[in-house]
Amino acid sequence: MYIGVDYYPEQWPRERWETDLQLMKELGINVVRIAEFGWSIMEPEEGEFDFRLYDEAIELIHQYGFDIVLGTPTATPPAWLIEKYPEVLPVDDHGHVIGFGARRHYTVNSDVFQVLSKRIVKEMGKHYGNHPAVIGWQVDNEYGHEKSDRSYGEVDEKAFQNWLEKKYGDVQALNERWGTVFWSQTYTNWSQIPVPRKVYQEHNPSLLLDFDRFCADSYTKYNRLQVETLRQYVDERQFITHNFVYSGLAQDQKEIAKDLDFISFDNYPVWGGLADPISPAAIARQHDLCRGTKNGKGFWVMEELSGAQGWSQIGYLPRPGHLKLWTYQAMSRGAEAIVYFRWRAARFGTEQFCHGILDHDGKPRRKYDEVKEVIDSLRGFADDWIASDYSADVAFYHDPENEWAWQIQPQSDQFDYVKEFLRFYEPAHAMNVQGNIIRADEDLSKYKVVVVPIYFLTKTGFNDKLKKYVEDGGTVIFSYRTGVKDEDNVVTDKTLPGELADLCGIEVHEYESLRENKSSQVKGISGPLSGMEATVNVWCDYVEADTAEVLATYNDSWFQDKAAVTRNTYGKGTVYYVGCGLSPEMMNQLYTSVFTDTEVPFMESAENVEIVKRNCGEYDYLSVLNHDVEKGHDVSLPSGDWTDATTGDKYSKSLAIPRLGSVVLMKKK
Ligand code: GLA
Repeated sequence: MYIGVDYYPEQWPRERWETDLQLMKELGINVVRIAEFGWSIMEPEEGEFDFRLYDEAIELIHQYGFDIVLGTPTATPPAWLIEKYPEVLPVDDHGHVIGFGARRHYTVNSDVFQVLSKRIVKEMGKHYGNHPAVIGWQVDNEYGHEKSDRSYGEVDEKAFQNWLEKKYGDVQALNERWGTVFWSQTYTNWSQIPVPRKVYQEHNPSLLLDFDRFCADSYTKYNRLQVETLRQYVDERQFITHNFVYSGLAQDQKEIAKDLDFISFDNYPVWGGLADPISPAAIARQHDLCRGTKNGKGFWVMEELSGAQGWSQIGYLPRPGHLKLWTYQAMSRGAEAIVYFRWRAARFGTEQFCHGILDHDGKPRRKYDEVKEVIDSLRGFADDWIASDYSADVAFYHDPENEWAWQIQPQSDQFDYVKEFLRFYEPAHAMNVQGNIIRADEDLSKYKVVVVPIYFLTKTGFNDKLKKYVEDGGTVIFSYRTGVKDEDNVVTDKTLPGELADLCGIEVHEYESLRENKSSQVKGISGPLSGMEATVNVWCDYVEADTAEVLATYNDSWFQDKAAVTRNTYGKGTVYYVGCGLSPEMMNQLYTSVFTDTEVPFMESAENVEIVKRNCGEYDYLSVLNHDVEKGHDVSLPSGDWTDATTGDKYSKSLAIPRLGSVVLMKKK
C-alpha cells in the first residue's frame, strides 16, 4: 500500500529538504506527490524548460527511498503565458474575464491553452517519463473546481456552437428539441446560439443542460489531450490519474475516468469556514461515488485532510482520531492509497491556513504522531485489506445530467441535489447497508434493491431497464419529481410520473414546492408505515394511486385524500414511490421493511457508528468507525471470532469503541 504526503519543495529552502525527508522517513511514508503547481518553475519563459529544482528534489526524495507522483502543472498557467495569451483566461457568466492571480485561470476551450498544455506535459514526460522513482502522474489538479467548470467567453461560445452543430446536425432539429419557438428564440444559424451568460430572466432549460454537457465534454477532451501526450513519452509502468473533487460540477467524472488508469479523490470532510465536518454518510457517499466512477476499481485519496483547511476563512480543527477515522473510512470504501495534504502549512500565498502534518514552524507534534500511528496500524494487514472486495446489495442511481437539471431548475429554495440524494442514501448508511452508486449503463440484476432518488431528468433506456428489473422481481424505490423531463430537458406530455406511471401504479396530477419554513404532514395508513406520522418538507407530489397500495397519505385538510407513499406490484417485483421529502424516521421504517423483505443484510449501530464490510477468499473484514466526537459506543458484532487486524486482540459478540475510534476486525471464513 502507498501512503504518503503532498510536498512542495519549491516552497521551502533547499537546506530544509533533508530535514523534511528525514521526518518523512521516520513517519514511515513511501510516496510523495510534487509539482502540480510548478509550471512557472519548469517553463520560466515560453519554450524555455528548466527542471533543475525538481531534478534536485526528485533525486533527494529518491535517495530517501520514496516513490513519486508528478503533477502536470496546468492548473496554474504562468504570468508570461497570460500576458502573451490573454485569450486563455476564463470568463464568468456575467461576461467578466477571470484574471491572473490565483489558479485554474484557464478555459479548456482555448486552442492556445491546449497547445501550451501539451508542450509542458510533453517536456515533463520526456524528462521524467523513465525516472525510476516516478511511479505515476496526476494530470492537472481538481478539474472544474472553484467555479472553473464553466466558462462563458468567445472561445467557449464558438466551441459550444460547433459542439451543437455536431450533436444536432441541423439547426431546425435543435429548434424543435429545445422548443425555441418559446419567446421567439428560433435560431437560423449556429452562430446565433449564445453561451448562457446572464439574462434578466432564465435561459431555456434545454440550452442550459446542453451547455453543461458541452462543458463536461470539453474537460473530457482536455484530459484526454494530456493523457495521450504523456503516454507517448512515459514508461508504461507509470500510471496516469487525476484528483477529482466532489460531484456536481459540469463534468462527467466517469467519462474522464475512461482515459485514466484509476481515479484519485481529494477527501476533505471539513473545509474552509465549516463549523463541523460533513456527516459520515456524506463522506461515505463521496467514496462510493469514487468507487463507482471506474466500475468498482480502487482509487487513491491524493489529498487526505490532515489539518484545519481554508484560505481567508478556517473553521473546525480535526480532533485526535479524526485523521485515522477518515483514513480508515476511505480505505473501507475503496481507497487503495492515502496521500496526506499537506506535508507542512505554507508560510506565504493563498493557502497559509491550509494546515498540514507539520505547521508553519515545521515541528512534528500531534498530527505527525497521528499519521505515524495510522501508518504503523496499517502495516500488518493493509495490502490484503485493500485487495479485498466491497460487495453491495443496494444500488443508488446517480446521473450528473440529472444533477445538472436540478441545478438548472431546483424549483424549491429548499432543494439541494446532494441533500435530497442523502435523504435516500443516509438511512441505508445508518443501517450499515452496503451500497454502490451506479449510472444508467450498469447491470441492475446484481442488486436486491435499486434506489432511484429525484429521477427528474429521465433516460428512456434506463426507464426500460428499470421496468425489466422489476418485472424480473427487483425492488425499486422512486422519489418525488420522478419522470418529469426527457433527455432534452423538456417536460413530458404524459401524466406524471410520465413513462414510469405504469411501473409505479400511480398518477401525479398536482404537486407543490415547499419553500423555506414550509412543511406538510403525512400519516402511515398501511404496511410498514402504519401508525406513523411525520413532517415532510421540500416537496409534495399529491399522488393518485392506480394499481398501487397507499402506505401513507397527507395529513392535510386540503389533500388528505392524496397519497404520499405508495407500493406497487409490477411483474414479479415491487415499486415504492416516496412522493415527498419524508422524515428520516419514516425512511428508516420503510427501509427496514424493504430490506427485510428483500433480504438485504443490515446492522443496527449507534448513531454515527459506521460499519463497513469487505471480504476476500480467506477473511471477512469489518471496519468499525465511530464518528461520534463525544461518546464511545458498544458495538454488537456479527457472529464469530473477530481479531483486531492491528493489535491481534480478540473479540466476539461486541466491541467497545471509543469516541472517534476506528478499527478493522478480521475473521477467517
Ligand atoms: C484542494 C487542492 C489543493 C489545496 C487544498 C487545500 O484539494 O487540490 O491544491 O488547495 O484543496 O485544502
